[in-house]
Amino acid sequence: MSNLTDRVRTEVIQRLNNPQQSVAHRFDHIERVWANAKKIAATIEDVDHEILELAVLLHDVEQHAGKKAEHVESSVRTAEQILQDFGCPANRIDLVLNVIAQHSTEHVETVKPSTNEARILFDADKLDGIGAVGIARVFGLFGQMNLPPFAAIAWYRGKIAVSLKHVQTEEGSKLFQSNLAYVEEFLARMESQALEASAVSSNEPVQA
Ligand SMILES: [Fe+2]
Ligand SMILES: [Fe+2]
Repeated sequence: MSNLTDRVRTEVIQRLNNPQQSVAHRFDHIERVWANAKKIAATIEDVDHEILELAVLLHDVEQHAGKKAEHVESSVRTAEQILQDFGCPANRIDLVLNVIAQHSTEHVETVKPSTNEARILFDADKLDGIGAVGIARVFGLFGQMNLPPFAAIAWYRGKIAVSLKHVQTEEGSKLFQSNLAYVEEFLARMESQALEASAVSSNEPVQA
């Protein structure tokens, strides 16, 4: 852990604690992504850990609720500013920004992770979307955007499919699979309970 990463961490903690920031992308998300990244990095040779940690810290620094499509570009811009302000060398800044630019499923069809650090961040980030915490994050974010829970199901299924299709590392794939069944069962139960409720309400006449 370098002095630079310490300073960036303190800055990110402050910046993510604001009402515009997605509730699913506050500092607790960064901590879990970093924990996932360390697990994956332990299985891969030739990883620049400082670049990886800086990219994890800064990858969602501008992830405002309802603004997912533009969050990569704005996070790259803010990350560059922060790293320049803290005296990070220009060639190291470029490496970090490259990792951040390649982390999102929004762009993965055209912008593929091209370095070990980018592959690790991609998987570590998607892993925080799957499992009990992933479920809570999705519904929390939809609530913040004033959308009902059922609106989240189709979106969530699509997100899982894209993440699975593009998983980058063997360890990431293993960790993904270990949480997938739980999430699928949760969504299936949610849908069947909704169907049951709507069948009951459409068959029963309303009592005066
Ligand atoms: Fe992101
Ligand atoms: Fe993220």
